[in-house]
Amino acid sequence: MCGIIGYVGNKEASPILHESLRKLEYRGYDSYGFATIDKNKVWIRKGKGKISDAGFEKIPGTIGIAHTRWATHGNVSKANSHPHLDCQKKLAIIHNGIIENFDKLKKGLVRRGHKLRSQTDSEIIAHLLEENMDAGLENALKRVMGIIEGRSAILVVKDDFDGIVAARKGSPIIVGVGDNEYFIASDIPAFLKKTNNVMYIDDGEMVVIENGKTPRFVNIETGKSISKRLIKIDWDTTQAEKGDYAHFMIKEIMEQKETILRAINQDDKEIQKVAKAINNAFGVFLTGCGTAGNVCHTGEYIFSKIAKKHVNYAVSSEFPSYDDFIAKKTLVLTVSQSGETADLLEAVTDAKKKGAKVISLVNVKGSTLDRVSDSTFLINAGPEKAVASTKATTAQLAIMYLLAYASAGKLNEGKRMLLDVASKTNDMLNPRYDERIRKIAEKIYKKKNIYIIGRSTNYPMALESAIKIMEVSYIHAHGFAAGELKHGPIALIDKGAPVIVLCGDESDKDSISNAMEVKARGGLIIGVGPKKYDVFDHWIKTPDVGVGSPMVNIIPVQLLAYHLGVLRGCNIDMPRNLAKSVTVK
Ligand code: F6R
Repeated sequence: MCGIIGYVGNKEASPILHESLRKLEYRGYDSYGFATIDKNKVWIRKGKGKISDAGFEKIPGTIGIAHTRWATHGNVSKANSHPHLDCQKKLAIIHNGIIENFDKLKKGLVRRGHKLRSQTDSEIIAHLLEENMDAGLENALKRVMGIIEGRSAILVVKDDFDGIVAARKGSPIIVGVGDNEYFIASDIPAFLKKTNNVMYIDDGEMVVIENGKTPRFVNIETGKSISKRLIKIDWDTTQAEKGDYAHFMIKEIMEQKETILRAINQDDKEIQKVAKAINNAFGVFLTGCGTAGNVCHTGEYIFSKIAKKHVNYAVSSEFPSYDDFIAKKTLVLTVSQSGETADLLEAVTDAKKKGAKVISLVNVKGSTLDRVSDSTFLINAGPEKAVASTKATTAQLAIMYLLAYASAGKLNEGKRMLLDVASKTNDMLNPRYDERIRKIAEKIYKKKNIYIIGRSTNYPMALESAIKIMEVSYIHAHGFAAGELKHGPIALIDKGAPVIVLCGDESDKDSISNAMEVKARGGLIIGVGPKKYDVFDHWIKTPDVGVGSPMVNIIPVQLLAYHLGVLRGCNIDMPRNLAKSVTVK
């Protein structure tokens, strides 16, 4: 969370930073701010709200940093927005992360006479740097990195330094190398229009970017220089634009016509190798967060059904409670769009410490997860900009199926099934289909609650449906295992309560009985599946793809969530309180 960008070059920094910050807005949009260096002075501009709603205000200088905030410590206000200054206003910092020992450090700073202007944990970095400036900027930052605890990425500018000093412990930062100019950002899209040549900064490293010089990378603890490779990123910038679509979310939903197919296009040998590792492992754990967690949960069913194999699933934030089971021969299979989710990265660090092997399904190439995993399958969905994950979900599911089929020794059968899913998804996602779902959304968008039920692989998809509806439309939505309804939740059903029933496999008969129980109590039944049952008040048809049904069932629910959000006037691509990459615990 929080987007950070820095610029060092010969051009005016503030317009470049402004443009880049807009590209990072999906990371946080509570407030924004800029700091530049000109004539030995720190210039600051800050504001509350979204950078895209703010007018551009130039500040002088060819060196600068900028930040878009997702609030953790301290409310959403101009005072709490970054950059933060030291007492003497000689340096400015921006920060992404959480300082876990902030309370103690802040009390010490206040005791020693520092005047803090915000409620944030981040501001203490500026004051700690100020206290350590006798060692020079670079060494002061090294010392501060040793003092603060937790995950952080920090960028610093100072009145008498012609560049940026930055450090990383946990949260990502990447250097973009242009023509006599450098960028440093939390995400590559921030500078992708300017350059696709990057240098990665690993955990425990710092970089000194001085105007006119090659960036110098240093290990924070040992002070040793580190040489870095220049890596070319092959992303297409137009993929990260909305084009003719009203929102990124609908564009990304529609892209599933191609992304499922792209995801299947993996190296067979690598799939077979990992499948073998899964079969030989002493316990397999699937882990991820939110939507990616639901993909893992589906994976538990997929492995059981297809490979007759028991694998365990835990959301990453709960993973520490299972880590007593992790041993040297355990295999941990992780799923993440961004590859930067803090809870997941902690789980991976934990698992690796115990000697487990980590294999990941990731969208963002070069992300922390991609780089720390023993082996990675890139899902190739292209940049996903809407906060609500859609195309990454089905691409992740596709690879989960490939692995399960390969583990059962039936990779080709799996590919045939997935090709069928891809081609039928392509047919399904047409304007008429979208319009039909919009009409159903019109009937329910004023409701306060929506329930979703499913069995087997469609149970985790019911949970995923609830996430999608809640985050995009702010309607309270709740997913249940269909059979669990009668054990309590059915008490919630009253006249007209919308209940979405996900169907499409051998468990349909039982799910339909549950739907009838709901209908008998006045519920409005919206069926999703290949077959129309009498109990449905509305039917959203999905293709019959057998065991692949969760992939095709989640797509119309994504569309429904989208239309509910539009009808309710919600901020579709940037829902309140959320951010695309959750880099704090
Ligand atoms: C919901 C959503 C989130 C993410 C979760 C993990 O639509 O996108 O629940 O799935 O924050 O993010 P990644 O996949 O980047 O690890």
